[in-house]
Parts: sequence; C-alpha cells; structure tokens
Amino acid sequence: MVRPQRISPKGLFDPYYVPDRLLHREREMRMIDGVYRDSYDDDYGINCLVHGITGVGMTVFSRYFLTKIIPEQFDSYTIYVDAKHKDVLEIVAELNDKIHRLSSRPITVAFDLDKLWMQFKRTAAASSRRGVFVIDNIDENNEEVYTKVAMLSKEIKASTIGVLNSHDYRLLTKAPATQMAYDFEVPLDTYTQSQLYDIVRLRVEDTFPLGLTDEIIRYIADLVCEFQASTPRTSIEALKALWPLAQRGQEITSDIVRSATSRITTLGQDSDYMDLIDTISMNDFMTLLVLEALSEHLMRYKTETYIDRQTLNELVLIKCEELGVKHSVDDIDKSLQTLIFQSVVFESGYTRDLLYLLVPPEILYDTALNLRRELASRK
Ligand SMILES: Nc1ncnc2c1ncn2[C@@H]1O[C@H](COP(=O)(O)OP(=O)(O)OP(=O)(O)O)[C@@H](O)[C@H]1O
Ligand SMILES: [Mg+2]
Repeated sequence: MVRPQRISPKGLFDPYYVPDRLLHREREMRMIDGVYRDSYDDDYGINCLVHGITGVGMTVFSRYFLTKIIPEQFDSYTIYVDAKHKDVLEIVAELNDKIHRLSSRPITVAFDLDKLWMQFKRTAAASSRRGVFVIDNIDENNEEVYTKVAMLSKEIKASTIGVLNSHDYRLLTKAPATQMAYDFEVPLDTYTQSQLYDIVRLRVEDTFPLGLTDEIIRYIADLVCEFQASTPRTSIEALKALWPLAQRGQEITSDIVRSATSRITTLGQDSDYMDLIDTISMNDFMTLLVLEALSEHLMRYKTETYIDRQTLNELVLIKCEELGVKHSVDDIDKSLQTLIFQSVVFESGYTRDLLYLLVPPEILYDTALNLRRELASRK
C-alpha cells in the first residue's frame, strides 16, 4: 500500500494529532464501537471510562473514536474537552461554548457555574442528534463535571467517555466511598516492543521528510521499552528532539539518539560505570575483553546501533589470538551474561541476538582497555 504523502511536523508537536491509522488498538476500538452501536440503535445513553498508564495513548484513542469512527458511522455530534489544569467553571464554559457553536445557537454570556450548566443542559437536551462527549484527564478536582455530564447523558440518551490515567482511575473508582457513573470501561494496555516500533515508525513516516533508518527506530523503541514501560509518548518526545536535527540535514546516529533519550534512561555518572566495571571484572580478563571488543565496534561504526552475538564472538576470538590468550566460546558467553545482568550491555527486545549500549561506547572502551592493561601488568 502506498501511504499518502502528508509529511508535517504537526504529527509530533500537536498533542491532539490523530494519525490516519491507530495501530494495535483494533480490539479496544471494536469494543467501544460495538457498545456505542448498541446504545445508538436501541436508543439509550451509555457512559464509558478509558484508562491506562500515562503516555499509553488514551487521548489519541478517544480522539480517534470521536473524529474518525463516529462521523463515519453515526449521525451523532461530538464534543471533546481536555480538563487538564482547568477548573470546573472553565470546563463547563468550554462544553457550553462548543455545543452552542455546533448548534449555531446564540450564547448568553454568563460567568456563573449554574447558569452555564443550565445553558449547556438545555442545548444538549434540545438537540435532534445524539451527542458524544469526551472529558479527557479526569482527576479529583474535576471529577464532578464528568459525573454531571455522565448523568445528563443518561437522561438525554447521549454518551460520555471519561479519560483518565491509572492512578486517578484507582483513586476515583476503587475507593470505598466513591461512585463514578459509568457502564463499561476500556483499559488500554502497554504495547509490546514490536508494536511500539510500528507506532514510532508510523510517526516517522508522517513527520520526517527523509525518514530515519530502521535501526534508529528500533533503538528508540528498545530504549523506551526498557526504561519507560513501552509508552508511545516517550518515543514521540525522543522524535521531537531529533526532528530539528534531521531537518537541518544532520545524520541521526546512535550517539544523537542517546543524548535525545538521556532523560528517560537515567544514566549514572561516567565514574559510576567505571566503578561498576571495575567490580564485575575483578580479575576477569575475559569480561573486559568482551566489553572492549563490543564498544570498539560500536565506536568505529557510528551508524550501527547494535552488534550481533556472532560478530562479537569473532571479534573477541581475534583479540584473544592477538594477545595469545586461551579462549572458548563458552567463556565469552558467560562474560556477556555478566555484562547483561549488570545492565552494562542490553539485549534488544526484538531479538536477543542484537546487543546495544546506553553509555557512549568511548567511555566503556577506555574503561575496559585501561582495566585490562592494569590486570595484565599485575600478572
Ligand atoms: N496505537 C497508536 N497508534 C498510533 N499512534 C499512537 C498510538 N498510541 C499512541 N500513539 C501516539 O503516542 C503519543 C502519546 O499518546 P497520547 O497523547 O494519546 O497518550 P496519553 O495516554 O493520552 O498520555 P497522557 O498521560 O500524556 O495524557 C501520541 O503522539 C499518540 O498519537
Ligand atoms: Mg492524554
């Protein structure tokens, strides 16, 4: 399939951007679509909560349903309000404003919560079409607006979708004294590594005129999965940092991705790494040699983000021969296992065969080389 050429940075910088395709949410979309279809056909109001960990794609899920599915399949009007950092008065004013604009009715200026609510209620009730309201980012401070709209929806056979993160979901629905009005819920799970990769790639196609290499996209997905529970928002943040560089024609290397994601990977100080390596390689010549070979390779080939186990084995064997050290593939494996276990080296989530680093390879190379020489001179 040829994708329509629609390259625009909006896809990275607009928080309400809805991509043409919502990837890997088919089941959840079918669910909300089916439940809404039943309520629409049988003429009753229905309310739903969409929830998941922050950054997992709740906003885009609800907006995809609102802006793509509803207009395509139903004769309903839709209103979306982001409640984040807004007080109750602001939220109700926005609902009121939007419904008046939709129904082209004149709006009476009011600054009083009850008046605004009555206006909204009257207009919603008078509409010949059914409404679907989305209140995004529900929390303790605005919960009452959701409840009001949800109850109104029942009366006038409309629907309300409340969107909230897992923390607020637990707080508002699981506490003993709470009672949130909703009929069903759509929990959004985190994505697998390869699903995250698809999402990042889609966004790259939508926004980067010259694209990025598969390896770079995979590296971003690997880092985000390892450190941020596979949430697409973090991947998009990384792409935002790369975009201006790519725009200027700069080649995007693993070094650049590392610095663009350093905030999420919570790197320790370089000296912490030296201590760590010092400890794990205590008298362990082979582990130092493996680390040296691995980082040397990634240092030399800047556009390569991963090294596969076979290549690494070969490089270590060559080093062993040069140094006249006895060696076996088993030893190399054991050393590699130690490095992975200590989070110096990482295995790609796509295939264990591919290995990557978080720290700039230069630092590891210098450390490994120095320690190895020290060890050799002591013997
Ligand atoms: N299934 C998907 N297909 C395509 N893009 C997606 C998908 N899921 C998430 N995204 C993209 O990931 C980014 C984060 O999603 P979104 O803003 O919806 O997260 P959120 O759960 O609402 O986060 P927050 O906690 O910040 O409210 C957005 O750019 C969104 O378009
Ligand atoms: Mg959101």
